Amino acid sequence: MSDGGDLVELAKRRGFFLQSAGAYGGVSGFYTFGPSGAALKQNIEDTWRNRFAIQEGNMEVDAPTVMPEPVFEASGHLDGFDDMLVECPECGESHRADHIVEDNTDIEEAESIPVAEVEELIAEYELVCPTCGTGLAGQAIEDFNLMFETNIGPGSADPGYLRPETAQGIFIEFPQLAEYARNQLPFGVTQIGRAYRNEISPRKSLLRVREFTQAELELFVDPEEDEPALEAVADVTAPFYPAADQEAADGQPYEATIREVVDDGVVGKPWIAYYLGVAKQWYESIGVDMDRFRFRQHLSGERAHYAADCWDAEAEVDGDWIELGGFAYRSDYDLSKHDSYSDEEFTVFKQYDEPVTVERATVDPDMSYLGPEFGGSAGAVADALEALAERDPDAFDESEVVVEVDGESHAVPVEKTNFGVEEVIESGEHITPHVVEPSLGIDRALYTALDHSYREDEVDGEERTYLALPQEVAPTTVGVFPLMDRDGMGEYARDLVEKLRAAGLAVTYDDSGAIGRRYRRQDEVGTPFCVTVDYATLGEARDDEGEPAAPDTVTVRERDTTAQKRVPVADLPETLTALRDG
Ligand code: GAP
Repeated sequence: MSDGGDLVELAKRRGFFLQSAGAYGGVSGFYTFGPSGAALKQNIEDTWRNRFAIQEGNMEVDAPTVMPEPVFEASGHLDGFDDMLVECPECGESHRADHIVEDNTDIEEAESIPVAEVEELIAEYELVCPTCGTGLAGQAIEDFNLMFETNIGPGSADPGYLRPETAQGIFIEFPQLAEYARNQLPFGVTQIGRAYRNEISPRKSLLRVREFTQAELELFVDPEEDEPALEAVADVTAPFYPAADQEAADGQPYEATIREVVDDGVVGKPWIAYYLGVAKQWYESIGVDMDRFRFRQHLSGERAHYAADCWDAEAEVDGDWIELGGFAYRSDYDLSKHDSYSDEEFTVFKQYDEPVTVERATVDPDMSYLGPEFGGSAGAVADALEALAERDPDAFDESEVVVEVDGESHAVPVEKTNFGVEEVIESGEHITPHVVEPSLGIDRALYTALDHSYREDEVDGEERTYLALPQEVAPTTVGVFPLMDRDGMGEYARDLVEKLRAAGLAVTYDDSGAIGRRYRRQDEVGTPFCVTVDYATLGEARDDEGEPAAPDTVTVRERDTTAQKRVPVADLPETLTALRDG
């Protein structure tokens, strides 16, 4: 286990990540992944894609990161995507008011507390500015919108925003995506890409940043009919921490299987439970320690504006529980919003098993006889009457019905509407699917995998640090070293590097410094195997009979145990590939 400082230091030294633009003083909340970090991130993303898209049969899209304002008006982000900002009256620094409360009291999840109460807590606990120590009592808290704003094209006529979640790029293309899915529910659409939030106080290295990668799945389901087949994950076990237990004085997370939390109604939406099971398997596969992992349900005040229920996957990092991913039941919130704000329909046509005969209220569609007092709006009045007849046939019990068109009320005598009821045969209906959303942060997953795989031990009387990363995600699978770059060992080793790369393995060649130091370097980037070419490989070592001892063999050294064995070079690509793939 690292303390955060050791890990951040190792991350910089070994090319995992570093704060961006250091030459210009650095800027909070932006990180560059170095060669090891970029490879690790790519591997983590590949395993996510494999598990959440390919194995689940979900589609993948790749939408722009800048989107026009109407998208975020409809989604609710323009109005509701705020954090609580408190400004220090002395030094002028801005801070998240809920974080100040969490960091200095026993109160957790302060973002779920109303603003007025947070102001009271700041006064009651005499909380101070983390930068200069000035008391913050009496400072008003502001809502600070987290979206980065920009202009699309010259001028300011078309404001745009960097997307705060990849999800909206999926929702706004729903009409077309539903076509690709042949209007068959359930269907899922994934996206992996950058999201941006102008965090008030970025912190804890990669854990709270202003630009990060999200891996999201939007699963569109028929709320009346679709249930997941749980078998594949039914026996997956994890600690669950429901909202009710968090609120109870002695509540604790408890261990249960996915099947149990569905049967007991602890996780109310079986689709959410299904993806909690998938996610647990995935987090384990990338190196998150399952003894420091749990699922926690959001408290009611904590949920995002779109979520009807939400569970988080959490991991313990440096003594705190951090959110790795959210599993929200977004109901029909997003599709209904885009349906009413845009010109398109965000529904699917649900075919009935058998056509049904239904009674439908009708009105005369031709209102032209209504006369000049209706001006050009006769057609619009007719549409409004028709909609009213569908919605509320009882309205036609009166002698006149009143409809609103463009803010004007029109009273139409019922006898002139030719109100009636007709029988029609319907083969189906338009429904708005509900959305189940597993939304995972790649940066937090990566940081947690590094933190949980950080180890220190002693080898041959020397301290060493290594990363016990799973082979599947380690940035490099094999380090190849000649004992020394002479007598043909360098050529042999470089030739071997080519062969291993041609077999699809990620290989590093290193001939500088003592062999022990080369092992340490690879240990620190989590390389699972190191291969050494020595005199025996060249056929120059002799056995007891004076014969070449082990020609065309190399030593393969395993990272965690440091155990070594000799392996024939001819078998090496297959041996290492099999070891990598478990
Ligand atoms: N579409 C749903 C959504 O965006 P979220 O809980 O706000 O939900 C999902 O974000 C995940 O994105 C989080 O669980 C976290 O892993 C990651 N994330 C969110 N804000 C982040 C930040 N400022 N820095 C790093 N990762 C972040």
